[in-house]
Amino acid sequence: MKAAGERIGMLTAYDATFARLLDGAGVDVLLVGDSLGNVIQGEKSTLPVTVDQMIYHLRAVNRGVQRAHVVGDMPFMSYQASVDEAVKNAGRLVAEGGAEAVKLEGGAEFSEVIAKIVRAGIPVMGHIGLTPQAVHKMGGYVVQGRDEEKAQRLLEDAKALEAAGCYSLVLEGIPQELGAQITAALSIPTIGIGAGPHCDGQVLVIYDLLGMDPSFSPKFVKRYVQLHEVIGGAVKDYLGEVKGGSFPSEAHSFRMGPAKAAAQLPAAANIRVVGEDEKLGAVYGGAAADVPKR
Ligand code: KIV
Repeated sequence: MKAAGERIGMLTAYDATFARLLDGAGVDVLLVGDSLGNVIQGEKSTLPVTVDQMIYHLRAVNRGVQRAHVVGDMPFMSYQASVDEAVKNAGRLVAEGGAEAVKLEGGAEFSEVIAKIVRAGIPVMGHIGLTPQAVHKMGGYVVQGRDEEKAQRLLEDAKALEAAGCYSLVLEGIPQELGAQITAALSIPTIGIGAGPHCDGQVLVIYDLLGMDPSFSPKFVKRYVQLHEVIGGAVKDYLGEVKGGSFPSEAHSFRMGPAKAAAQLPAAANIRVVGEDEKLGAVYGGAAADVPKR
C-alpha cells in the first residue's frame, strides 16, 4: 500500500462485535491494543495488562474478523526482560490469540528482540515516539522529539527497527515534521497517531473516534460521533419506558400457544393463552424464528 501511495486505515478493536463492524466498514488493520487497559479495564495506564488478557481479547476480535489484518500488542514486561521470553510471548499471541503480527514499543535497544521474533516467523510492528508503557520514564504522556537532538534519535531508532526486520512502524505523539521525515526515510509503512498527516497510515483508539468518553479529548483525536450522548440518550429512553410500563409492548412480547400446550406449562402471572392459530411462543431454545441466532 505504501508503494502504491494508498493510505492505511488502522483502528483498535477489543471484541468480536466491534471487530465485525470495523472489518465490515473496510478497515485495513485491526490492532488489539494494550490501550484496552484504559478503555476496557478502566486502568490509569496500560501497564497492568497481561499476556493472558491480550490473548482473551485477540480471540474475541478474531471471531469477528473476515478480512482485516490483525495485530496484537505485546503488553508491558512481556518482551523487556529477556529475548527468550519475548519470543515465547509473541508466539503465544499468535498461536493462542490468532494474531497475524505483534506490536511492541521501543527503539534501537529492542533490535535483537525484534530480529529474534521475526526469525521465529512472526511479523513485528514497531512503535516509537510517545510510548505509553514508558509513561514513568517520559514523565507523563508528552509529545516526543520536539528538539533537534531527540528528533534525530527517533529517526535513528526508526531506521534501526526497519533494519531489525519490522514490517511497519507506529509513530505516536511526535511533531508532524518528524513524522514526515521518518516516513520518507523508511521503505516500510509508518502508521501515525498524533504524528501528523504525512505518515503512510493513521491509527486511532476506536473508543476515542466514537466519542465514548467526553472527558478525554487530546489534540490528536478527532471524534467522528459523540457516542456517549447517543448511548446516554438511548439508555434514558429505555429507563423511561421500563419505569413508565410501555416497554416491553405487545411487539416485543411472546404469546402462549394452543391451550393444550399451555396447560402443560407451569402457571405464570401475566401470561395469556391465545388462539390455536398462533405458533407456540418460543422461549430461548425454542423456534428459531422467534429467537434468531445472533
Ligand atoms: O494500544 C494501542 O491502542 C496502541 C495504539 C494507540 C497505537 O498502541
